[in-house]
Amino acid sequence: MKTIIITGGAGFIGSHVVRLFVNKYPDYNIVNLDALTYAGNLNNLSDIANAPNYTFVKADITDFPSIVEVFNQYKPDGIIHLAAESHVDRSITDPFAFIRTNVMGTCNLLHAAKELWKADMEGKRFYHVSTDEVYGALEFDGTFFTENTKYDPHSPYSASKASSDHFVRAYHDTYGLPVVISNCSNNYGSHHFPEKLIPLAINNIKHNKPIPVYGKGENVRDWLFVNDHARAIDTIFHNGKSGSTYNIGGNNEWKNIDLITLLCSIMDRKLGRQEGESAKLITFVTDRAGHDLRYAIDSTKLQEELGWKPSLQFEEGLERTVDWYLNNEEWIDNITSGEYKKYYEEQYKNR
Ligand code: NAD
Ligand code: DAU
Repeated sequence: MKTIIITGGAGFIGSHVVRLFVNKYPDYNIVNLDALTYAGNLNNLSDIANAPNYTFVKADITDFPSIVEVFNQYKPDGIIHLAAESHVDRSITDPFAFIRTNVMGTCNLLHAAKELWKADMEGKRFYHVSTDEVYGALEFDGTFFTENTKYDPHSPYSASKASSDHFVRAYHDTYGLPVVISNCSNNYGSHHFPEKLIPLAINNIKHNKPIPVYGKGENVRDWLFVNDHARAIDTIFHNGKSGSTYNIGGNNEWKNIDLITLLCSIMDRKLGRQEGESAKLITFVTDRAGHDLRYAIDSTKLQEELGWKPSLQFEEGLERTVDWYLNNEEWIDNITSGEYKKYYEEQYKNR
């Protein structure tokens, strides 16, 4: 019986990873460690909340003594670390929250794992989930980020993730901690918090509100279906080489304005609106400070070494995502009204 602690399991990507592991590995104890910040929502996991191999622990990774306590109680064989402050715009207004959680929080986990495992690191694994944003920005020149691209972060968010990546490698090189890192491109799919571009746009289109597009909408992102990211994490956690880094991406670059135009047309069809109706909501607004121009991932290493590849075409994934949001109006309405926080914190406070 293996015990795996997944941090940030109540968030967008974390909840997909927790669900995959709980369902696929009935012989693993999956412990979801999450502080339930504004981005954490246990409603994301209501379908597996009572599974016998699942436990939720409310804990804050910035609090070292409570992390040590949880590690001593559950004695994990593996840690999959996703907990983070994840939104670039918030990092511009409150960089210290990102330094505390993404840098200090990661260091707390690394140190607690080193102490717990120091007598015998055989069979143990610390998996750090990171982002392509650590590599900085590309021009429109057909190049890609590889695992060897020099780090060049521009936002407080990406700088905090870059810093955490360096600490993960330092714990491997200095203390022999068995680590693995992945750097992934933009995810999309169900349970995505509506401050991020795609769910924000879906929600605004539904309510006939303006869709804010930063600058001229020329920036490019490489979009990957969240379930494909969760599958990659499963593959890398089990088969990745200790001390290695793997890039994960969809090979699916879209200019923001083209993506939003496609989304508008899908929404017109789903909502029975005239073609072109939703696109009238597109509103160009002041650009994000330090806005990275283009991200594009080369995931050849992961594909060739471990046999992973993306499963879905973007148009199909986007259509499925729109369907999920339209069929789960309560999920998004609860978030936008702030009601879910009160309800779930009350329900889970004694667990
Ligand atoms: P999210 O914001 O949706 O979820 C973050 C989760 O972490 C929440 O459940 C939150 O409650 C929890 N959390 C935050 N601070 C915490 C703390 N101090 N202690 C314990 N828990 C805490 O984030 P996401 O988009 O699911 O991203 C998850 C991870 O994947 C992050 O590390 C992010 O950098 C990385 N990532 C995200 C993307 C993306 O497109 N969203 C792409 C690549 C990598
Ligand atoms: O690349 C991986 C990263 O992707 C992750 O590490 C981050 O956690 C995740 O938030 C995401 O970062 P982005 O900044 O790329 O995602 P976001 O959804 O905020 O923005 C996507 C693009 O859309 C970006 O170019 C900014 C633009 N944008 C965003 C918002 C919220 C807009 O034009 N309008 C908006 O309202």
